Amino acid sequence: MAGMNRQKEQQISRMAKWVKEKLAHEGTGHDWLHISRVRSLSLVIAKEEGADLFITEAAALVHDLIDEKLSEKHRVPLRELASRFSEWNVERKAAEKILGIITRMSFRDREKYKDTELSKEGMAVQDADRLDAIGAVGIARAFMYAGAKGHLLYDEEASEKNIPSAASHFDEKLLHLKDLMNTQTGRTLAEKRHDLMLTFLNELKNECSMTGKRPL
Ligand code: ADP
Ligand code: NI
Repeated sequence: MAGMNRQKEQQISRMAKWVKEKLAHEGTGHDWLHISRVRSLSLVIAKEEGADLFITEAAALVHDLIDEKLSEKHRVPLRELASRFSEWNVERKAAEKILGIITRMSFRDREKYKDTELSKEGMAVQDADRLDAIGAVGIARAFMYAGAKGHLLYDEEASEKNIPSAASHFDEKLLHLKDLMNTQTGRTLAEKRHDLMLTFLNELKNECSMTGKRPL
């Protein structure tokens, strides 16, 4: 919250407290710990890129709340979020910027919004969100997700038949994220995380093919 006035600091604290309560027991990878990591990483990127820190931090805090993948219990309709902002006296212009960012930044809607530019703050939050899906944390999240859904770990035959596994998610999405970074800071941070995933997948496939060759 460095460099913000007291009122903005208070607004961020209230937002954080509310989001933490909302997402504490969320079970699809959009839990409070994900939000906290994205919040910190967004600020690192925003500082490097000269983006507004209040808009960035606020957008990072609420970025997953409107996602349709969240269960009813955790999701907040856009209109309710807007009325919370006015309850907390967030300026209308700032609220519009924050809500604009979170509606534009989802991976699924990227086609729909491909012609509209994200703001600098939006770019910082989107890069941070994508960075949290790659590297060591990203690997861990993918296996948590697969575990929760009862998917397989890795199976070459299943992959060929398009049966979902944690490993197939890397080809489908995670290995593409490095090239979708908006900012130079994001790109630099993504390099190392991407390389770690390649090393990990290589080892995973080696180890699985060794065990696969063992006679039953
Ligand atoms: P976003 O935050 O972009 O909406 P998702 O909801 O798609 O991300 O995913 C949340 C987390 O779960 C991410 O870390 C993502 O990599 C992981 N995940 C999503 N779908 C799968 C899948 N089919 N297999 C493994 N992991 C997944
Ligand atoms: Ni997210």
